[in-house]
This record gives sequence, C-alpha cells and structure tokens, in this order.
Amino acid sequence: MILVTGGAGFIGANFVLDWLALSDEPVVNLDKLTYAGNRENLASLDADARHVFVQGDIGDGELVAGLLARHQPRVVVNFAAESHVDRSIHGPEAFIMTNVVGSFRLLEAVRVYWAGLPSDTRDAFRFLHVSTDEVYGSLAPAAPAFTESNRYEPNSPYSASKAASDHLVRAYHHTYGLPVVTTNCSNNYGPYHFPEKFIPLLIVNALAGKRLPVYGDGLQVRDWLYVGDHCAAIRRAIETGRPGETYNVGGRSEKPNIDVVRTVCHLLDEWQPRRDGRSYLEQIEYVKDRPGHDRRYAIDASKLERELGWWPAETFESGIRKTIRWYLDHADWVSRVQSGAYRDWVHTNYAARAA
Ligand code: NAD
Ligand code: DAU
Repeated sequence: MILVTGGAGFIGANFVLDWLALSDEPVVNLDKLTYAGNRENLASLDADARHVFVQGDIGDGELVAGLLARHQPRVVVNFAAESHVDRSIHGPEAFIMTNVVGSFRLLEAVRVYWAGLPSDTRDAFRFLHVSTDEVYGSLAPAAPAFTESNRYEPNSPYSASKAASDHLVRAYHHTYGLPVVTTNCSNNYGPYHFPEKFIPLLIVNALAGKRLPVYGDGLQVRDWLYVGDHCAAIRRAIETGRPGETYNVGGRSEKPNIDVVRTVCHLLDEWQPRRDGRSYLEQIEYVKDRPGHDRRYAIDASKLERELGWWPAETFESGIRKTIRWYLDHADWVSRVQSGAYRDWVHTNYAARAA
C-alpha cells in the first residue's frame, strides 16, 4: 500500500482517485483538512475499502510513525502543504509550520520506519516529494525554461518554504540514504481546484457575474499543466525515478495571464452565455499587483520525457475545455466550497485591490 499526504486537496485528491482507478493497491490518506482539504473530493471512495482516510497533521511525528508501523507502505507521496502564494503574503507562518517543520517531522518519521525495514523492501521504498517550479524564481522573457540544474531563487514565503522542504528532502538522501525523488511542477488546473487560484476563480466569478481580477498588467506568464498529467508524471517518478534525483514537470504550455482570461471568457460565452447577451470579457478588471509577483515560469521537462518516457496527454486547449465543463457540471461542489471562510479570504485578498 501507499501513504499519501494532503490527499484531500486539489492535486492529492486527483492523484488518489486516479491511483485507485488504475490499480487495486490501497491508499492511506493523511490530511489535516485545512480550508483547502475537502472530503467531498473523495466522496466516490466512501464505500471503498482500498481508501483509508486519516485526519491529521504531517507534523505530528507520533501519528505518522503509528501509521507507518501499522500500514507498512512501500511508498510515501507528500502533497501536504500550504499552497497559495497570496495567502503566504498575508500570513507566512502556516507555510513555515507545514511546509518546513511538517515536512521535516514527516521525513524524520519516514527515515526511522525505512531504516527498520528488511533490506529488499528498504531498497524498493520511495519517498516522493511533490514540489513546484516556483523554487527557481522568475524568468526573463527570452530566458530558457527552468532545468533541474537552475539555481534556487524563491521569491515568496510560499516558494521559500517549498525550497526549504526540497533541501531537507535532498539532505535526507545524501546524509541517511533515504530513497527520495522530488518533482518540481508548473501550474496545474483541472477538477477540484479550489477557487482561490486563478483559473477556478475566473470560472466561478464569471458565472456569478463578479469581476475577473487580473493582477498588474496581466502579462505574467505561467506554464499550465492539466492535473491528470501531473498525477501521471508522479506515478512514473515513483516507479522508475532514480533515488536522489529531481524531475521537472511541465506542459510546454506558456500563456500570459490575460490570454488565459480571454480563453475562459470565450468558452463560457459559447457554453453558458450571459443572460444579457454580452461577453464575460466585460467583467475583466485590472487590479493592484501581487507584491513580488514572479513574471514568468516555464519548465523544461526533457529529463522526465527522456528518462521516464512521460509526455502530457492534454494540450492547454483540451485541458481547459475539460476543466470548464467540469465546473459547469459541478455547481453544487462550487457552491459548497464558497463557505464563510472562503468569503472572508476573498475580502482579505481583493478588498484593497482597487481597479
Ligand atoms: P491544496 O492547497 O489544494 O491542498 C493541500 C492539502 O494539504 C489540503 O488537503 C490540506 O488539508 C492538506 N494539508 C495542509 N497542511 C497539512 C498538514 N500540516 N498535514 C496534513 N495535511 C495538510 O494544494 P495543491 O494545489 O493540491 O498542491 C499539492 C502539492 O503540490 C503542494 O505541495 C504544492 O506545493 C504542490 N504543487 C502545486 C501546484 C499547483 O499548481 N497547484 C503546482 C506544483 C506543485
Ligand atoms: O507554479 C506552480 C505554482 O502554481 C504552485 O506551486 C502553487 O501552489 C500554485 O498556487 C500556483 O501558483 P501561482 O501563484 O502561479 O498561481 P495562482 O493561481 O495564484 O496565480 C496564477 C497567476 O494568475 C499568477 O500570475 C497570479 C495571477 N492572478 C491570480 C489570482 C488569484 C491574477 O491575476 N488574479 C488573481 O485573482
């Protein structure tokens, strides 16, 4: 069996659902259920004995040690994190506590468990750490895409905390021999994406007749990858990634933010036209920029393609269509995640961003 952390969040839930659709290997899912964790994402597994859900913190060493001893996983996949850059600007401490201290405590419990395994299972064990391209900082417009040897230059409390966890993971391999693999992925989008992030925020705001807030000049570039392709890359990295290595994961799909907004508006104009017959484009509003906003991310995934034979199955054009269709078909999910706490966050982040 495998132990997944953060499996009630956006990417973790997609990973668990895909894993159990493709194999019968059980999953123990450890998630603290912060504002970003949602049991409803996993509702289809409620009666499935292959999925064991445990509410808890990766920073609780005793709890993690107990789960490892009881379930004897062959793999640990660490998704658990605070993941939103804007929240890290308003409140960095939670990012340090989970992404740095939590990752450290998880690693420590895993190291002790792994050291006690019989030698054949010890050699086959993997700790897969899910990280981000944001650790590399910001690219100039014509600079080549990030490779695994780019220097770490994190610019936000979020990316600095992820960089710290990556360094700890690396150190546990070099010092203790723990068989770790790290993946550094670009921006994901797809089903179950919490609408604090750009693409789901655009979809839910557009449909609710609210403004579509574009930070700064809207010309920041992100390299978008459909979440199912990220999950496939992680499965490859678990089975054939080399211990101690890092792999960049990306969609070769760089888009300026304003182009993403226009694409979402055009598709919604076609599939769910506004009652007044006007375009959703009219809801676009340029607002105050994010402090320290990274200008461009782009991933060179050639190591993953060459060594592990992974390529994305979706283009941005196919993935965004699937995503918007999912949100149109899951209006109940959308309305349930927009709780009071969500509305408080929207106020915190957007009230002071005048157009
Ligand atoms: P998310 O915020 O949607 O989900 C995070 C999950 O972790 C939630 O279910 C939350 O309850 C859980 N969690 C938080 N703190 C925890 C703790 N202390 N103990 C246990 N569980 C805890 O995040 P996501 O977008 O699904 O990202 C998952 C991972 O992938 C993160 O490590 C993130 O840095 C990384 N990543 C995300 C993207 C992206 O575009 N979303 C891209 C590259 C890498
Ligand atoms: O690159 C990988 C990273 O992608 C992950 O590590 C992070 O966990 C994930 O949140 C994401 O970070 P970004 O900051 O790039 O994603 P976000 O969806 O917050 O923003 C995408 C772009 O859109 C970014 O340039 C900021 C901009 N933006 C965002 C919001 C929420 C806006 O213009 N308006 C908005 O309201």
